[in-house]
Amino acid sequence: MARVLLGVSGGIAAYKAPELARLLRKAGHVVDVVPTEAATRLVSPAALAAVTGRAVRSSMWDGLESGTMDHIALAAEADAVVVAPATADLLARAAAGRASDLLSACLLVARAPVLLAPAMNTRMWEHPFTQRNVATLSALPNVRWVGPESGELACGWEGLGRMSEPATIAAAVERLWKRDLAGRRLLVTAGPTHEPLDPVRFLGNRSSGRMGQALAEAAARRGARVTLLRGPTALPAPAAGVELVPFETALELRLELRSRWKKCDALLMTAAVADYRPRSFSTDKLKRGAEDAALALAPNPDLLAELGRLRGSGRTPLLVGFCVETRNLAAAAKAKLAAKRCDWIVANLAREALGLETTKVEVHRAKGRPLGPFAGTKSAVADALLDALAPLLRRPA
Ligand code: CTP
Repeated sequence: MARVLLGVSGGIAAYKAPELARLLRKAGHVVDVVPTEAATRLVSPAALAAVTGRAVRSSMWDGLESGTMDHIALAAEADAVVVAPATADLLARAAAGRASDLLSACLLVARAPVLLAPAMNTRMWEHPFTQRNVATLSALPNVRWVGPESGELACGWEGLGRMSEPATIAAAVERLWKRDLAGRRLLVTAGPTHEPLDPVRFLGNRSSGRMGQALAEAAARRGARVTLLRGPTALPAPAAGVELVPFETALELRLELRSRWKKCDALLMTAAVADYRPRSFSTDKLKRGAEDAALALAPNPDLLAELGRLRGSGRTPLLVGFCVETRNLAAAAKAKLAAKRCDWIVANLAREALGLETTKVEVHRAKGRPLGPFAGTKSAVADALLDALAPLLRRPA
């Protein structure tokens, strides 16, 4: 049994809040609901009180006369805070650290895990301000996400922005405290490689490293010992519990992998490794010439394929590759699965993932039917992938 504070902000999906509250209570939790003023226009506080069996508070001023400081006590004593739906405005208030209403004040007080279930129009979700707020909130160690998902929206649009179903959110709440990867060792690679041409130039790619970092952080939260081999990125340091080892080139990454891969239970290879590097490195800055210029390139080794070969018929570690394609996703993923002899290829489309806070992936497996699609913030997708991986990481007794 846990104390769950359920925040409800003013989106149409608020009508699903009583069902979510009912599921949380059925799971044995004590549920305190804090709807915003706007949410109370969409869902009745009486319904919320009836399904939780507890008083519903939406204003900072409730209870003040009786001398209680509800916003501090409610949030400080909660074992988890869930906000469903989390509207664009709620995310903006939370990211700005506002305390202008009871729910946003609770979010400032809470140190327990905070699970956000966004719901809004696609345009609002994709707006750079909302994406910036999502990034700001994602940097907090206790913030997790569920959704948003793609589908029909209340405003009549079709696209990303639909709140996850109450059952999905309730399952994500149970996962907040889960330590199902305790004792497991995970090696995660992330980000691009930089292949130097001269002291000031390199060949690189647009990988942000976000998916790999989200996986590393989610695995650490779930109890795994995680090493993150990370190429050059603009990301902040990963959350506590993740060992960070930087690399720059494919050959440097190869050395790190060689010394570590055998000791891990799974390798999650999200790094975007350059297939070629400049054949030579000029110690002096290259100068402009009058003629067209050509670059001589040497092939880099396929690091994942090398490990697939080295592992041979062995079963550990589990090898998970990632690919970003512009088309023919399933066919490319299946070809890579065979060529690299890995267990999974997690595939996404460049336009749905590259440089974004969200992604949509499908998992192609050496054994079994494809899984997914899994969609949402990269942290929500990371947890969905780890849910599917966790049973495979259980060591035989
Ligand atoms: N990979 C690797 N070494 C390389 C290239 C890729 O280990 N030299 C890994 C990536 O980390 C990823 C997977 O292989 O997990 C698929 O990467 P991708 O770039 O899609 O594969 P490529 O074999 O390079 O295919 P493509 O020709 O589409 O670039």
